Amino acid sequence: MGKPEPVESLMEKIVNLSKRRGLIFQSADIYGGFRSTYDYGPVGSLLLRNVKEAWWKSMVQLRHDVVGIDASILSPPAVWEASGHLENFSDPLVDCKECKERFREDQLEDIGTCPACQAKDSFTEARAFNLMFKTHAGPVEGAGHDVYLRPETAQGMFTNFKLVQETSRKKPPFGIAQVGKSFRNEITPGNFVFRTREFEQMEMEYFVPPDEANQWFEYWCDERMNWYLDLGIPSDKIRLRPHEGDELSHYSSGTSDIEFLFPWGWGELEGIANRGDYDLKQHAKHSGEKLTYFDPEIGEHYVPHVIEPAAGATRSMMAFLLAAYDEETVNDDLRTVLRFDHRIAPYKVAVLPLSKKETLTSPAQEIFDLIKTRWMTDYDETQNIGKRYRRQDELGTPYCVTVDFDTLDDKAVTVRDRDTMDQDRVNIDQLINYLSDRLS
Ligand code: GAP
Repeated sequence: MGKPEPVESLMEKIVNLSKRRGLIFQSADIYGGFRSTYDYGPVGSLLLRNVKEAWWKSMVQLRHDVVGIDASILSPPAVWEASGHLENFSDPLVDCKECKERFREDQLEDIGTCPACQAKDSFTEARAFNLMFKTHAGPVEGAGHDVYLRPETAQGMFTNFKLVQETSRKKPPFGIAQVGKSFRNEITPGNFVFRTREFEQMEMEYFVPPDEANQWFEYWCDERMNWYLDLGIPSDKIRLRPHEGDELSHYSSGTSDIEFLFPWGWGELEGIANRGDYDLKQHAKHSGEKLTYFDPEIGEHYVPHVIEPAAGATRSMMAFLLAAYDEETVNDDLRTVLRFDHRIAPYKVAVLPLSKKETLTSPAQEIFDLIKTRWMTDYDETQNIGKRYRRQDELGTPYCVTVDFDTLDDKAVTVRDRDTMDQDRVNIDQLINYLSDRLS
């Protein structure tokens, strides 16, 4: 008897599926890969975009009290001086004197043993390692030319507070939201796209009258938990965990994390923080601008307090991918299916002519043209139909529309449901209605 095949772990399956089906690739793959950065392929970029759009819809589009911005990634040291990041945004770094590997001291299971070479008591004293990437603007390097890649999108909302408040004519409670890239020189990136040096965040700063801060903190904890649940994260895989006092960031007077049960244990998806008036006061002090709100009803200026739901887009995408992954046996065959909520599924529909013959590809392309303006649609005419269904299952496409030889006579197509695999015969002139009824 041969050796049994090694059982792939869920993470290995996700990483392999991501590469095989065009979701996530190691960046600079042809050069051997660049550690801790990833590229999102044809399917992954759709999934990531849908996660960000679902967030934007719920946080900005459906609310009259939140507006969006898109701030710059490069920013001068003054911003990070004021925010406290130059001084405080660091992790404790230790070096192993034997093998020269570096670790975050707070992540070591045993401070007396190097996990890489097993050497005993080989670590240097911990030193604070600032996580911000520094570069220089213009052709000259050196003091006065330093700039930083933002390590969070949040500061763009604080530095623009006054301009946004005045131009949008919002009054507290109101929020400023942003989705975009952030950069951190993480000491120990890892677990696929969970912790990377370049990633995307979805953050919102909600400015409130000081005496309403606690109630809005509770409100945003509920809202944000419901967002993940509504988009298909099962309730036993997500939890809200209040921070202990010694875990709080330098700006926070209260934080709760939304955590997901990853294959290696609970991990943070989002932090909801009560930032008080820390940021606006700091930026007012350092810039000399008055960052207050004048409330005409009480005739007073005050510094709003801030509640911040700060989520990772790339990290949430990974959680949605893990939660959607399912396998079942169908006719002695293993079927892998990503059971995404329709709103985040990369493709909503796939059009599949039964054969590559012109007689079928031509009407199939007409059907693709009919559907493509409404939903992101894939078109695939290679391989046998069974394999194409399996491929779409692995992409999480909710509906496959098959054009066969009967279509030429009855002007109808077969629509296959991803989850039940049930098939319906639908008249082409009813197809848009049929899909609209089912796709949210
Ligand atoms: N403005 C507050 C802030 O940035 P954070 O908890 O440091 O808070 C918010 O980051 C979210 O950004 C995290 O919950 C996580 O989802 C995501 N995130 C942070 N660092 C990350 C990294 N290195 N790789 C991927 N996602 C990251």
